[in-house]
Amino acid sequence: MTAFVTALGFFLSSIVVLLLLCFVLILLFTLLLNIWCGVPFVPTPHVVVRSMVDLARLKPGDRVFDLGAGDARLLVTAKKNEKNIEAIGYELAPLALLLAKLRLFLSGYRADMRMKNFLSEDVSDADVIFLYLSPEYMVKLAPKFNRELKKGTKVISHAFTFKDREPQEVGLVQHRFSRRPTKTYLYIW
Ligand SMILES: C[S@@+](CC[C@H](N)C(=O)[O-])C[C@H]1O[C@@H](n2cnc3c(N)ncnc32)[C@H](O)[C@@H]1O
Repeated sequence: MTAFVTALGFFLSSIVVLLLLCFVLILLFTLLLNIWCGVPFVPTPHVVVRSMVDLARLKPGDRVFDLGAGDARLLVTAKKNEKNIEAIGYELAPLALLLAKLRLFLSGYRADMRMKNFLSEDVSDADVIFLYLSPEYMVKLAPKFNRELKKGTKVISHAFTFKDREPQEVGLVQHRFSRRPTKTYLYIW
């Protein structure tokens, strides 16, 4: 009996150590990826998410992308707003991807989460694109969007703007993590 209890204790503690190790590895890999791509996983505050989804004025049948989807909060809110959209998220960081899967599971909504670099992916069939990236990514994405996007595609960016392009609308959102209002930008390509 004592041998059984000892063996069980050893087995359970091995599982805990293994799970902890997996978590540390996922965290490390996420950190390395974020350093490599230059954009950390920083989720958009919920009040800003709602303002971005409002700016999108979603219609049934829209194909909605989040490039660097994080924990999929934008896609889930978009689905809540209009359930007949197709939601696609690109995300490289494993921790963010794990949280996205969990959020989607708990919400009951479906989105196609792809662990791929969105810079190498075709986005020509997008109707709406959400972004929360960096000034450098905005510079990289502008020529890609010029090549690929169809006329009228809506691009909604949190905080960062495109050079040489005027936004159609600018939203101002006050939230508790910043003293000044955050800006959201709607571009029509
Ligand atoms: C600032 S977070 C925004 C997350 C989410 N869109 C939001 O607003 O809550 C940016 C995310 O983009 C991801 N990312 C950065 N470069 C990427 C790339 N080239 N391909 C896919 N994901 C990328 C990062 O891992 C990070 O999770």
